[in-house]
Amino acid sequence: MSTIHTRVVAISACYVVIFLAGFWLAHVGRPFGGFPLNLHKFTSLATVVLFVLLVVHANRAAHLSGFEWIASAIAGLTLLAAIVSGGVVTAQDPAPAAWLTAHRIAPYVAAFSTAATLVLFWIRGRLG
Ligand code: HEM
Repeated sequence: MSTIHTRVVAISACYVVIFLAGFWLAHVGRPFGGFPLNLHKFTSLATVVLFVLLVVHANRAAHLSGFEWIASAIAGLTLLAAIVSGGVVTAQDPAPAAWLTAHRIAPYVAAFSTAATLVLFWIRGRLG
């Protein structure tokens, strides 16, 4: 498997782990267990790193089009929104309702826009 394929598989696997750990956290409630919270946090950070590396390397192989940059930026920003809202929900007890709502929406937007960007890369032949 090439590096880019490995990254696509790793990003997908990370999303599965993040969502499962997120549902776990929502189910057990406060105080959040150290293991599910750390798993949730570190896989979300790993996802950002893997996604940025994938985009940077794809651009190095052949310059991304404006549309591809926009799709990548939307995916990156929504991932960041999921992380920031998750951070606020964790840090404040009780979590502000608006941030909790944000953290129930942003993850789906992030997952969808990341998947859409990867499909776009695949259509453009960037995934080999
Ligand atoms: C890629 C980034 C992230 C994604 C996709 C994501 C996804 C999710 C999902 C799907 C849930 C379940 C929501 C529900 O249905 O109630 C959840 C819950 C949660 N997440 Fe995240 N999350 C991300 C990042 C983070 C980070 C960085 C933190 C903490 C620093 C965090 C803290 C939490 C907490 C505390 C809950 C439980 C909220 C509750 O009380 O219902 N998340 N997350």
